[in-house]
Amino acid sequence: MTLPQVAGGAQLLAEQLAAVLSQMPDPSGGPAAGQLERELAEAFGVPHAVALSSGTATLHAALSACGIGPGDDVLVPALTVIMTVAPLAALGATPVFVDSDPATLDLDYDDAARKLTARTRAIIPVHLWGRMGDPAALAAFASEHGLAVVEDAAQASGTARHGQRAGTVGTAGCFSMKDGKILWSGEGGFLLTARRDVAEHAAAFRSHWQPAPPGQAAHSRLATNARLAAPLAVIALANLRRLPDLVNLRRAQAGRLLHALEQVPGLAAVAPAMGEEWNGFAALLHLDLPSPRGFAERLAQQGVPNSTGSFRLVPCDRRPMFTLSDRPCRGAAEILDRTLAVILTERDTEATLDRYAAVIAREATAWTARCRTPRTSPANTPGTPLPAPPASPPERTLPHDDHTGTPLLHPRPADRDRGHHRSRQDVSHPPRPRGARCARRPGARRDCARCQAAAARRVLPAGRRTARLRRSPARRPAGGQRGGPVPARRHTVGRDLAPAGHQALRSGHRCR
Ligand SMILES: Cc1ncc(COP(=O)(O)O)c(C=O)c1O
Repeated sequence: MTLPQVAGGAQLLAEQLAAVLSQMPDPSGGPAAGQLERELAEAFGVPHAVALSSGTATLHAALSACGIGPGDDVLVPALTVIMTVAPLAALGATPVFVDSDPATLDLDYDDAARKLTARTRAIIPVHLWGRMGDPAALAAFASEHGLAVVEDAAQASGTARHGQRAGTVGTAGCFSMKDGKILWSGEGGFLLTARRDVAEHAAAFRSHWQPAPPGQAAHSRLATNARLAAPLAVIALANLRRLPDLVNLRRAQAGRLLHALEQVPGLAAVAPAMGEEWNGFAALLHLDLPSPRGFAERLAQQGVPNSTGSFRLVPCDRRPMFTLSDRPCRGAAEILDRTLAVILTERDTEATLDRYAAVIAREATAWTARCRTPRTSPANTPGTPLPAPPASPPERTLPHDDHTGTPLLHPRPADRDRGHHRSRQDVSHPPRPRGARCARRPGARRDCARCQAAAARRVLPAGRRTARLRRSPARRPAGGQRGGPVPARRHTVGRDLAPAGHQALRSGHRCR
């Protein structure tokens, strides 16, 4: 598949930038951002577009315009980047993580329904990798529960489903123009909305409430500076005018890479959904290989940039600030573990893509062979080029964070169900094979669970032995009315286990 030529590269941009630079400095900011907004609204077929300094700022402004604030719960997929969630923290709202369906990558609406509370005000569907969920299902869920919809369409310019463009389905659609996005300007973002009040709020919000929405005084409310600088607006404008070509190019790039890998065992292209016109943001492959995250990291080391291997993308509910959630989103984890998302940019030529394909095919074959090779084989001796991935998921007596591999000190209900724990005490003292030696003794093979638990506790600063859990969702009583707030619960983090752990370290004990 040959890549299409896209007109208007660096040369054209340089000329347009030179024109705006000759008019700078201009304290008014110049006309470029306003022109960009008019052309964005026209290109996306919406009444209003507001340009801001980043995708994060755009989400912040949109959520603020929807009235999200302290005490509100907002449903957000765990299958997203931290930038989706940061604006919620800034507004004092609580993110409630919702799982995704591995078969469709769409939100798991059953899980979303379970997580509704009396405080739930909005939902943020995220079109990760440019993939768009079913807009009808989203609209039905939001209207049934009276929720504002703020779409995180940062990666989704050019995607549509059943004729509806990503970013135009909800109350507001938020886009990023950071480098790497299809419509890029270095840094930047824009918001699309059909509602005048939302657009006016966002325009005031990005500039310290000046100009204020009609009927309000300038600077009568605290906001922020998230204006888009004129040179970036000029770049965005130039790229907007060739957006259809840029989307075609990205689709062709993803298509070329996926086509080249069609016959490689263990890799399968992730197909768009029915009725989805996917923008091809990243080449998506389902990995049916052992230790898929290790494989993605291996590719990153070999110069193939990808979401999990290069950027360590993990489900948001597994990030350190949220890991006390007692219901991990396992669908999101499965999707991220098993999806190779190769990052593409406008500058990736046919030669680059063919190199990526060759590396991925070579490494996939070697990875599979390596996993089949017994550990004692000469092919697995130190100094050979591939790190040895485990032939099967490592057997863990102590529950581990699925992504960082660190031991979890909290018994998760699912782990308990799987028999990882028999009691709280067992969290740090799970059953061990009789006679296994602790790694801290000479000749031992691996750390025992006691030493792992004690080592993990040592990284907690003194006084941080307790941690507050996120509020649990209030259950609806049978009558349908949602329940009130549920009191926050507190978990102790290994406080009562510390002496045993330290003693284990001192004594270099033999596990019983
Ligand atoms: C899905 C998603 N949401 C939000 C953002 C935040 O955008 P920005 O980096 O422009 O603030 C990004 C940026 O990469 C993103 O990919």
